[in-house]
Amino acid sequence: MQRMKTRVIAFANNKGGSGKSTTCSNIGYALSLMGRKVLLIDGDMQLNLSLSFFAEDDVLEMAQSKKNLYYAIGEQKDLTDYIRKTEYENVDLIPSSTLMSGIEYELFTKWQREHILTKCLKNIKDSDAYDYILIDAPPTLGGWVMNIMCASDYLIIPVEASPWGLFGLANMFEFVQTVNQIAPDMKIMGIAITKVDERKNYFKQTKDTLAQLEDTYVFENYIRVDSSVEWAQDNSKPVVAFKKSSRSAKEYIELAKEVDSIGSR
Ligand SMILES: Nc1ncnc2c1ncn2[C@@H]1O[C@H](COP(=O)(O)OP(=O)(O)OP(=O)(O)O)[C@@H](O)[C@H]1O
Ligand SMILES: [Mg+2]
Repeated sequence: MQRMKTRVIAFANNKGGSGKSTTCSNIGYALSLMGRKVLLIDGDMQLNLSLSFFAEDDVLEMAQSKKNLYYAIGEQKDLTDYIRKTEYENVDLIPSSTLMSGIEYELFTKWQREHILTKCLKNIKDSDAYDYILIDAPPTLGGWVMNIMCASDYLIIPVEASPWGLFGLANMFEFVQTVNQIAPDMKIMGIAITKVDERKNYFKQTKDTLAQLEDTYVFENYIRVDSSVEWAQDNSKPVVAFKKSSRSAKEYIELAKEVDSIGSR
């Protein structure tokens, strides 16, 4: 498959547990199955994206080494040297560190501090070696997530179909407006509804509420609650790799097609 111009997509929502890491890992892997070359960046101290591709011991070893995102950002290094191969063809990953909990402090004294990640990613992005770079953000809205969004072409907001899941969205939109003052080209690609339990009426309400948003796309494919997701995580794999026949794997594959149809335009 012919390489496209690299598209960087952030997965962010300050609401914790909304499905960011699960969605980022599965869309990334599903895009690779479609022939796309994908680089995943774990931007969270919880290391959940790294744990979706590597065994716990390996993740801890990478976190304790100096070859992870925390040191790259702190020392403003080219991220090319921090890329790890996963067991899957076409999926590479830059691991995180628990030290990322102190990244706000690290950024604070730096010149042009919103653009450090953009600078560290520049060579990789300009080389067009990857079709997609997907970044998993932590559940915060501060200087580091600002960095992630400023380095991205698109933002995908995973939203849990729950009242509090919707409540936090207003903060996200406000934050995106601030991001757009310094990175005017960063666009919301869409809202991905996750952890849907169709037995609950609240899902319908979530869809209706989101449908009223002006100028914000809501992906047609949503992801239902599925215990395979947790079994996959227990086995250090995205569910699409662990059990391709599962309901959530099929849903993530369809969602990835939607993402690619927008991302490759
Ligand atoms: N479709 C699903 N079915 C069942 N469980 C799910 C599903 N999607 C996510 N989960 C579970 O919900 C929890 C939160 O998911 P995830 O870690 O992806 O969210 P997150 O937004 O990245 O969280 P955080 O804000 O802590 O980074 C995890 O325990 C995950 O296993
Ligand atoms: Mg997460």
